[in-house]
Amino acid sequence: MAEVVLKNVVKRYGELEAVSNVSFECRNGEFLVLLGPSGAGKTSTLKMIAGLEKITSGQVFIGGREVNGLEPRQRRVAMVFENYALYPHLSVFDNIASPLKAAGVAPGDIEARVKHVAKMLQIEQLLDRRPAHLSGGQQQRVSFGRALAKEADVYLMDEPLSHLDAKLRHETRGELKRLHGELGTSTIYVTHDFREALALADRVVVLDKGSIQQIGTPAEVYDQPANDFVADLIGEPPMNLIGCVATQLDGSLCFASDAFSLRVPSHAVDCVRGMTLPRQVRIGIRPTHITVELRPAGEDSVRAEVYVLEPLGALSILTVKLGADLVKIRVPEDFSAEIGDQVWLRFAEEKIRVFDAESGHRLV
Ligand SMILES: Nc1ncnc2c1ncn2[C@@H]1O[C@H](COP(=O)(O)OP(=O)(O)OP(=O)(O)O)[C@@H](O)[C@H]1O
Ligand SMILES: [Mg+2]
Repeated sequence: MAEVVLKNVVKRYGELEAVSNVSFECRNGEFLVLLGPSGAGKTSTLKMIAGLEKITSGQVFIGGREVNGLEPRQRRVAMVFENYALYPHLSVFDNIASPLKAAGVAPGDIEARVKHVAKMLQIEQLLDRRPAHLSGGQQQRVSFGRALAKEADVYLMDEPLSHLDAKLRHETRGELKRLHGELGTSTIYVTHDFREALALADRVVVLDKGSIQQIGTPAEVYDQPANDFVADLIGEPPMNLIGCVATQLDGSLCFASDAFSLRVPSHAVDCVRGMTLPRQVRIGIRPTHITVELRPAGEDSVRAEVYVLEPLGALSILTVKLGADLVKIRVPEDFSAEIGDQVWLRFAEEKIRVFDAESGHRLV
């Protein structure tokens, strides 16, 4: 086990700055997830830690030792990357066993370790085959197994579940989490899937365009997104962001637009009072934190028009028009409404977040 520290790490490919001044720490034994959309710089960051890409500037430390000048094999890391890089002439068993053999592990122990990961990844029946005779998802699991079987201070994983079907991905995700619980090996895991990040991570590093947007626990990035980018990245559907102004009307603070006026919730009053009013903001509210009524539901309810209703089995997603914004709400499966119907929304006050309209930063 070892901790990994990045200090002001930059990666440039010619003119393009793919990773900009990134600093974070994966603590000893921590499961750290790098989350971001395509092109965010996740793989580039992981490759610099692994030693597969040169660091343009900045420093990487593993277990307290600066590794900038070290070869990948001197870094004591095990890697799983998107391209599986299996040995074509070796069986699945030997592919997984090869790093163990190279490390001089006793044959009995090799067999036990290979069988253990093969069982976990559901590839026990494939151990005699050659990689060419496997599907893409099977090859990915073999490559994953080879990394997991190896003894390492740090695991580096780049979308290791991306080629698996939904069911297998879900199962493997659970097994991976159990395995990390057992071994406690520091792990840096790259994904663009917020569900994987929330399910697996001790902490999440959210990246966009090479820059860190937020570092936090799954609960923090979900409940307290640092900006509108993080709010929009996490959740299915993501957090609603509704344009309005924070202002003072008849002596009370409110969020107002052509379509609604909403009293500023008590947890936000101090912050709004400190602003120069009126101020353009966006209020953020998750689809689970809105309730819908078919008739006016008191002073704080907001009128909206049904745009579309999509049943998803256990629940439905209702989309309504609120002024210029479309707002999504999770409603019970038996909820029914027609396009164009009027409905009244009620926001869970304590769950309202407020973002600056211009910078996107969360204010409350
Ligand atoms: N070898 C390279 N040469 C030039 N540009 C590169 C190279 N590798 C990556 N890039 C660019 O750097 C940026 C970051 O790429 P990177 O692969 O790190 O993104 P990513 O977050 O892993 O994305 P994805 O989710 O699509 O895998 C992208 O704009 C990409 O086009
Ligand atoms: Mg990538």
